[in-house]
Amino acid sequence: MNNVLRQHAEHQFAEELAELAKHDTSQRPPNWNLSPGAVVTYLIGGKLKNSFEVSPKYIGDRRLMEIAVATLTTDRALLLYGLPGTAKSWVAEHLAAAVSGNSTLLIQGTAGTGEEAIRYGWNYARLLAEGPSERALVTTPMFTAMRDGKIARIEELTRISADVQDTLITILSEKLLPIPELNTEVQAVKGFNVIATANNRDKGVNELSGALKRRFNTVILPVPASMNEEIDIVQRRVASLSRTLELPAEAPSMHELRRVVTIFRELRAGLTDDGKTKLKTPSGTMSTAEAISVVNSGLALAAYFGDGQLRAHDVAAGLVGAVVKDPVQDKVVWNEYLETVLKTREDWRDIYRACKEISL
Ligand SMILES: Nc1ncnc2c1ncn2[C@@H]1O[C@H](COP(=O)(O)OP(=O)(O)OP(=O)(O)O)[C@@H](O)[C@H]1O
Ligand SMILES: [Mg+2]
Repeated sequence: MNNVLRQHAEHQFAEELAELAKHDTSQRPPNWNLSPGAVVTYLIGGKLKNSFEVSPKYIGDRRLMEIAVATLTTDRALLLYGLPGTAKSWVAEHLAAAVSGNSTLLIQGTAGTGEEAIRYGWNYARLLAEGPSERALVTTPMFTAMRDGKIARIEELTRISADVQDTLITILSEKLLPIPELNTEVQAVKGFNVIATANNRDKGVNELSGALKRRFNTVILPVPASMNEEIDIVQRRVASLSRTLELPAEAPSMHELRRVVTIFRELRAGLTDDGKTKLKTPSGTMSTAEAISVVNSGLALAAYFGDGQLRAHDVAAGLVGAVVKDPVQDKVVWNEYLETVLKTREDWRDIYRACKEISL
């Protein structure tokens, strides 16, 4: 299993989960692998009694994670909501891994997601040959989660059309999945719940109906509060990615990380870090996830086409691509930022020059 590009959270962090379970003496909700407190420790990180170190997965407000975990112990489902790249999917995966030991019961919401992807479908060859039977039934992750008392995940809930979203109402309020064709039903086993994610930036989304909204507790994941928090996130994710990808590069210097994160935060906020200069903001989201990928692609350039150390011109290419999403508007924003901010910073000359060299 060491060969896979991206391991499931419950495999990648199997040791942490096992240690947490071993020292977890608090009460666990029915069918949970860990107590709510231990789930939060898994998410936020911490030291166990035997001084075993649990790595932080979510970096930010502990209280938000407590609210998310507490929600899952109730009859309400959890909706993680927020801007792109604020770790909604990431938190959902780790929550499912910690609570159920299984993060794979996942339904990806798209405009084309049909009812049969949420409830159940049919194997038509069997259906025609044998008529409706349990053997002809094609189960879904939701079906499995209900039957086994586990967490089901729905990614991008608001991309699913409104009528299909509404099939969730019975599931969430009655904890029931009727199968009229077989004259039977699946009753959710204790431990079942749903974590959905949705982002509030993408266009072409379907609003959640009021009826569905009332069945979810919404937790809004914010963009990282401080510069240091965001640097910490980027540093950790980049380290872990370059380990998996086996990049022959050195860890990026704090200087370079700070510059990338500063540029992202300034353009996102429309204000320089010292609060003195107002800036135009680009059309893209300038999310932490993109900052991670700028550093990561820079490291790949440094590893294979440089001396293995992340330098300004390795960062520049990805940086410009992250900012300039709209070739007309964003170009103006970027050029203004280059000339009024980057150019004036003493020890930023190299990155200013590297960015100027990239023609737009
Ligand atoms: N506060 C944070 N703590 C830890 N990691 C974070 C944080 N914010 C962002 N990340 C990292 O950013 C990356 C992207 O996160 P993720 O894909 O979960 O975003 P998302 O909110 O689901 O975005 P989208 O709306 O585009 O689906 C992940 O690798 C995650 O580790
Ligand atoms: Mg996501």
